[in-house]
Amino acid sequence: MPRHTDFIQIEEALQALQAGDLVAIPTETVYGLAADAMNTKAVKKIFALKGRPADHPLIVHIASSAYLTAWAKNIPAVAYQLTEKFWPGPLTLILPKREEIPDIVTGGQNTVGLRSPNNPLTLELLKHFNGGLAAPSANRFGRISPTTAQHVQNEFGKDTPLVLDGGPCQIGIESTIVDLSQSPARILRPGHISFEQLLPYLPDLEYGAKQTSPRVSGDMEAHYAPRTPLFMVSREQLISLSMNKHTVVLCFDVLPEGLQGITIGKDATQFAQQLYANLRNLDKRQAEQILIEQIPQTNEWLAIADRLQRAIAGSGELNNP
Ligand code: TXA
Ligand code: MG
Repeated sequence: MPRHTDFIQIEEALQALQAGDLVAIPTETVYGLAADAMNTKAVKKIFALKGRPADHPLIVHIASSAYLTAWAKNIPAVAYQLTEKFWPGPLTLILPKREEIPDIVTGGQNTVGLRSPNNPLTLELLKHFNGGLAAPSANRFGRISPTTAQHVQNEFGKDTPLVLDGGPCQIGIESTIVDLSQSPARILRPGHISFEQLLPYLPDLEYGAKQTSPRVSGDMEAHYAPRTPLFMVSREQLISLSMNKHTVVLCFDVLPEGLQGITIGKDATQFAQQLYANLRNLDKRQAEQILIEQIPQTNEWLAIADRLQRAIAGSGELNNP
């Protein structure tokens, strides 16, 4: 149950959204930069603040599956089985869109991404808003996603909109995206909800984006990136590669002697929850490089491996002048 002070925040957030302004909202995955999805002018502000290319569609956040028909059409029965099991939660469904949805939300495509986020404040806000909130992650385009209200503030500085502070995000990496508009269904972005969890509902489920246009911005190789060059290396390399450079590390269990950085247990859930905060922390230290110890190559670590691969590809000053 939201606390009393949260209701005041919710009321303020509601008024801002209804006035066509942006509000940063907490979700269980990452903070989102939200606008009324039916208000084209408001949604344009998201693209302007993020510096996001116009052809990148946004996810519309809704209070529950009861709102699916307001946004999507030709909804297959499996969509309801999935929402019954996983909503509110870190699962985004891509469905054929209703004509009324502004093109700016869907990047001009004939589908829409929908999800009901599992955060008590945002659910309460959505219930009162009685519509849909278009919201990408609340970071500048290509940068590290925010998992606290402070991260959002750090991203946008004086341009920061009202932030509904829901504390640190519980899951820490973005939702799993499943495209139900194509057959067979396909995972476009891996996340906390795994291929194996979805398979009982979607026996033909495939993995990986097929198309060439950037339908999923996570599709593009570089993303979630720190300014410091980032590499993933074995524990042995961690020690040898750090020799001549000012290096910070993210490694398992104990820091090798003489190295500075962050240690974390080998637990995928905890690693994901702290991943972006740790990358932000290490990026701030103005090192010449960040070395991450090789993560396990198991299914449990798949979504983390996906984010790290893109963070590595986008890291460094050359990519971020
Ligand atoms: O966990 C999340 O999904 C977070 C929180 C805020 O909900 N949101 C998020 O938004 O990660 P964003 O914009 O950073 O990433 C959403 C991805 C984008 O890569 C976008 O291309 C994809 O969803 N997407 C949205 N609508 C789509 C559609 N109709 N077809 C294919 N991909 C779509
Ligand atoms: Mg994003």
